[in-house]
Amino acid sequence: MTTVSTALPDRLSHWAALKADAERYRQEGFSTWDNLGFWGVTAYRLQSMSRDMDTGLLTLPFRIASALIWRLVSLVTGINIGKGAEIGPGLVLPHAGPIWVADATKIGSNCTVLHGVTIGEGTNGAAAVIGNRVWLSPHASIIGRLSIGDGASVAANTLVITDVPAGATAIGVPAKIIPGRAAGAKPAA
Ligand SMILES: CC(C)(COP(=O)(O)OP(=O)(O)OC[C@H]1O[C@@H](n2cnc3c(N)ncnc32)[C@H](O)[C@@H]1OP(=O)(O)O)[C@@H](O)C(=O)NCCC(=O)NCCS
Repeated sequence: MTTVSTALPDRLSHWAALKADAERYRQEGFSTWDNLGFWGVTAYRLQSMSRDMDTGLLTLPFRIASALIWRLVSLVTGINIGKGAEIGPGLVLPHAGPIWVADATKIGSNCTVLHGVTIGEGTNGAAAVIGNRVWLSPHASIIGRLSIGDGASVAANTLVITDVPAGATAIGVPAKIIPGRAAGAKPAA
């Protein structure tokens, strides 16, 4: 497994990460509160905040509220990002799900995850480590402990079960690795 850089927010910077997510939605021409993908990102950030809080009575209302919001949003949008997943700022999900991101996943900053993507655990319970500025096209499945380098792309309907080097494109089932980034079509806002 090759090493990739994941620029993760520190334990207290979930609000900062959410602000960066919103900013990137705007930069990419998407709305925020009108976009179901942004709801999924927000529900995940709230759950991450509650995960890092003390377990005392004072924080209980927030922890209950964030768990309810996460459940409701996942029912409405089909987006299930495990609260244990570590995801850097600037995450964009352009559309609603289904999207599944396992708890053990690590994702860097400014990544894009399209509808139908699964980032799942392999037989040993570990999941992918994904770098910065990675593009995961619709219905890609990324299974098990592997790395995807900075600036890489995964094509639509692709099954990734081996490492993808930085800047490369993974295409097909199972994925072939093509050096150089294919230009991903920009999804409709
Ligand atoms: C990765 C991607 C950008 C490649 O596009 P491209 O550079 O134009 O590639 P090409 O169409 O020239 O295809 C190159 C080769 O890969 C194959 N290929 C391309 N995409 C493929 C896919 N998803 N699965 C399997 N094979 C694929 C082509 O058949 C072609 O094979 P060949 O060389 O044997 O003829 C494109 O497949 C893709 O997945 N785009 C997703 C864009 C996206 O996320 N849109 C958002 C929609 S909401």
